[in-house]
Amino acid sequence: MRLRTVAITGCVAFGASLMIFALSLDTRLLGDQSGYKPIQPIAYSHALHAGELKIDCQFCHSAAETSRHAGIPPLSTCMKCHESVLNKAGTPAGKSNPSPDIQKLREAYVSGRGIQWVRIHRLPAHVTFPHSRHVRSGVACQSCHGEIQGEERVEQFMALAMGECLACHRLENQKQLLAGKPAQAPTDCAACHH
Ligand code: HEC
Ligand code: HEC
Ligand code: HEC
Ligand code: HEC
Ligand code: HEC
Repeated sequence: MRLRTVAITGCVAFGASLMIFALSLDTRLLGDQSGYKPIQPIAYSHALHAGELKIDCQFCHSAAETSRHAGIPPLSTCMKCHESVLNKAGTPAGKSNPSPDIQKLREAYVSGRGIQWVRIHRLPAHVTFPHSRHVRSGVACQSCHGEIQGEERVEQFMALAMGECLACHRLENQKQLLAGKPAQAPTDCAACHH
């Protein structure tokens, strides 16, 4: 019982300090962030690349299966095609119709300046979220990010709230238990908070 009391006191104190931390540092940590859809420096389209051209998500976000972060691809990944693809989308074959956005991309690559993409998803620093474990256990990107392959501009789908993580974890564990397997999606504080 003593251990239990210590653990609960610990959690409450930890919670209170997080709350103060969140309130003092960043109001974006509080409340629903879904629907956030910033304009990017280049009009890169997931609808075109992941939808129409059917490029695999992990061709660009290759770290999703192995690391904590899925990562944003370096421009060298874009240049595998845009060394030669220079036209605006939808230009008939044999015509020249250079795209100003692809021009910008190539200049950013050649000069080494890169592109400062506006970051969309951001969990508070006190939360651990490993992509690898989710992707390897077969959770689709779309369960958390929505139908990105149909979006011209990425829009945040999840609110990134603790309740969303827990709701899916509980559901997954129920499915596992019904199938006679041990529950594997953690619901203890320490698994997500370090
Ligand atoms: C050809 C490369 C490419 C492919 C393929 C691709 N992406 Fe992306 N993705 C990017 C780039 C570049 C960005 C940053 C610019 C932006 O947000 O549009 C990005 C941004 C994102 C973001 C938002 C990142 C943030 O800042 O929070 C998510 C989520 C994402 N992609 C998921 C996906 C999913 C899911 C797929 C497959 C359906 C996919 N991507 C396919 C290049 C790609
Ligand atoms: C179980 C939910 C979940 C799944 C499944 C998932 N993501 Fe994410 N994704 C998140 C969360 C949460 C963040 C914010 C992470 C952070 O801020 O540390 C994120 C952030 C990202 C980002 C921004 C850069 C980064 O890694 O922080 C990209 C890009 C991304 N995800 C792409 C993908 C792709 C591609 C897949 C499928 C291969 C995928 N995600 C599957 C929840 C998920
Ligand atoms: C596998 C090949 C491939 C990769 C990788 C690729 N693209 Fe593309 N991209 C294309 C093709 C093909 C088109 C034009 C489609 C058409 O002609 O209809 C295009 C079109 C575009 C356009 C639209 C231009 C316009 O003005 O209409 C932009 C912007 C663009 N790509 C940016 C990027 C960025 C940024 C990356 C890297 C994150 C990237 N592309 C990676 C093949 C690729
Ligand atoms: C759509 C369902 C879903 C959502 C949403 C989800 N998870 Fe998970 N998560 C899982 C599953 C399934 C597992 C167990 C994977 C396994 O058994 O290999 C898991 C496992 C984990 C683990 C354990 C990793 C390990 O190495 O043991 C952590 C930590 C985690 N999730 C954090 C989060 C956080 C934080 C969020 C919210 C931002 C979140 N998850 C949202 C499905 C989800
Ligand atoms: C599956 C992952 C997961 C588990 C398990 C989890 N949390 Fe969280 N927690 C999160 C995420 C994601 C956030 C950030 C988003 C938010 O504030 O809802 C968060 C935020 C918080 C916050 C800050 C709230 C705020 O308004 O800023 C507190 C306090 C907290 N968690 C306490 C706990 C305690 C105590 C437990 C154990 C009973 C726990 N968490 C278990 C994922 C988790």
